[in-house]
Amino acid sequence: MAEIAAPAKGTRPEGAQTEADASRKVREMFTQIAPRYDLLNHILSGQLDRLWRARTARRLRPILDRLDAVVPDLCCGTGDLAFALAKGSHARIVGADFSHAMLVRARQKSGSMSPGLASSAMPFLEADALRLPFASNSFDLVTTAFGFRNLANYESGLREIQRVLKARGTLAILEFTEPTDGWLGNFYRFYFRNVLPQIGGFISGDSAAYNYLPRSVSRFFRPSELATLMAEVGYTTPKFESWTFGTVALHTASKAQGENESTR
Ligand SMILES: C[S@@+](CC[C@H](N)C(=O)[O-])C[C@H]1O[C@@H](n2cnc3c(N)ncnc32)[C@H](O)[C@@H]1O
Repeated sequence: MAEIAAPAKGTRPEGAQTEADASRKVREMFTQIAPRYDLLNHILSGQLDRLWRARTARRLRPILDRLDAVVPDLCCGTGDLAFALAKGSHARIVGADFSHAMLVRARQKSGSMSPGLASSAMPFLEADALRLPFASNSFDLVTTAFGFRNLANYESGLREIQRVLKARGTLAILEFTEPTDGWLGNFYRFYFRNVLPQIGGFISGDSAAYNYLPRSVSRFFRPSELATLMAEVGYTTPKFESWTFGTVALHTASKAQGENESTR
């Protein structure tokens, strides 16, 4: 298979030489910060993280409202996107992440939700997004929020998700991006690179993790570059919306119709 040119092949936390090193370091980092992850997310984003996930769920509502939709939320962490997707929807959401500590918190949160919520019995499983324990052609929708950027190989991640999607199934990636130019963008850049690592390091006790965050975002794709990679890998109709001065983007794309399949 021809390798596709991309600005960054995958994340590389400091000291990681190989993809295996990068994955191991990412897993250790999230395991370390799991107890304070939610608190810091809400503080550092000024609660905007809740709004971004809720807006993502609204955009995906037509798919979530299908009675038979089963949706894995990859790199689910403590489950916040999975819970937002499940709220008021018929879809069966399955959270997956490779950090056990993050999943422990997701299960605790799921268990403490009111019994009326679809998420109260939500399954969470330990799985590497680059080697998913799912059969090919299984899902109508695969989602991931703030996790894709942490994969050790982006092209492999897109191909693995493509494998498990049904033909015409949708991939949705919510991710941080470098903000646009202008004073608000510059202000955010300053905050993200200088203030956020200090607060994150202080509250979590892990300054490396919160120094990694801005570095991983600046190494990551610009939104149009990720859309191009999606198209090169074979997804159709890659699109993105940028939100909050270009600090986050929601990308969606569809798995192409298989050659031997007829349209419904
Ligand atoms: C920034 S957190 C995002 C969590 C959650 N989706 C949210 O919206 O808050 C990134 C998560 O991705 C997970 N992750 C990173 N690389 C992964 C991989 N290769 N397979 C599975 N999970 C991965 C980490 O363990 C972590 O829980």
